[in-house]
Order: sequence, then structure tokens, then C-alpha cells
Amino acid sequence: MNKNNIILIGFMGTGKTTLGRRVAERLGWAFVDMDERIEEKEERGIPSIFESQGEDYFRRVETAVLAELAEGTNQVISTGGGCVLREENRRLMAAAGTIVALKASPRTIVDRVRGDANRPLLQGDLEQRVAGLLEQRKEAYDFADLTLMTDERSLEEMVEELAALAA
Ligand code: S3P
Repeated sequence: MNKNNIILIGFMGTGKTTLGRRVAERLGWAFVDMDERIEEKEERGIPSIFESQGEDYFRRVETAVLAELAEGTNQVISTGGGCVLREENRRLMAAAGTIVALKASPRTIVDRVRGDANRPLLQGDLEQRVAGLLEQRKEAYDFADLTLMTDERSLEEMVEELAALAA
């Protein structure tokens, strides 16, 4: 049987952190933002990790953090948008709980992430970066148990739907 965790996956700007926090509050579960955990572990921000040690290094730390979290229970875990790319991570997530993919239109994503210097993969021409990565990751989130289009639903409604998964 899967453990009692809800794992949110999805592209940057799809609302994982906002929704995850609310679902955790609603359930009285811990909320864990993986990017924050990585920053705490590394004692620096994500742009600095990418810049000084590169994306591969970041991905290794991301897997180590996920492996630790997968041992726990009663957590809502917000993953980074690229966490799904490694097979090992997909296995860890599947063993750790229910996986929920959040989606949003490219327009919504661009509007939500505009001006955010904390996402190294989106520096430069924003529209182009988002479109390119969305294309590369077209099916990357499709292994989820459930998918929600976050720009078509109210936050309240999504919180209730996800909270019901824990029952
Ligand atoms: C990334 C998404 C980011 C963060 C890093 C890489 C990605 O997380 O992990 O910048 O590859 O999509 P968010 O999805 O929380 O922005």
C-alpha cells in the first residue's frame, strides 16, 4: 500500500506551492516545498547552485531530498518542475503516495513566473523558454494518478478534491 503522502508535480508556475500549502493546512499535514529543502541543505539559493555546480548537481541533490521525504508520511510535497525527469524520482514518488499533476496554459504559466529571478531555466526570452521546455516535457507529467487544470478551477474546489484523497 502507498504511504499517506500527496505529491504535487507539474511545470513551473502551475501552482504546486500555493495549492500544496492549502491542502496541507486543510489536512493538518506537513507541507514540504522541495526547492526550499534543497536550498536549506545547500545553504544557498537555486540560481547559485545552478551557476556554480550546474543542473546535474542540482538534480542529484533533488533526488537525495526526495529519497529522504519518501520515508515520511502525512506530508504534502511540492516537487520542482523538473523532478519528474529522472526515472529514479518517478519510482520514489510512486512508492511514497498519491501523485497529482497540476497543469496550466502556457499563457498562465508565463504570467505567473514573469520577473522571477529564482528560476534559472527561465532566464532570457520568457515566452520562448516556457514554450521550449513545455514542448520538451510534453508528456513528462502524465504518469500522475490525477491531473488538475489549475487555471480552470477555483482554489477552494481543488483543495477539497485533494483533501479527499487522504480519506
Ligand atoms: C525547475 C523547477 C523549479 C526548480 C528549478 C528547476 C525545473 O521548481 O526546481 O528551478 O526544471 O522545472 P518550481 O517548479 O517549483 O519552480
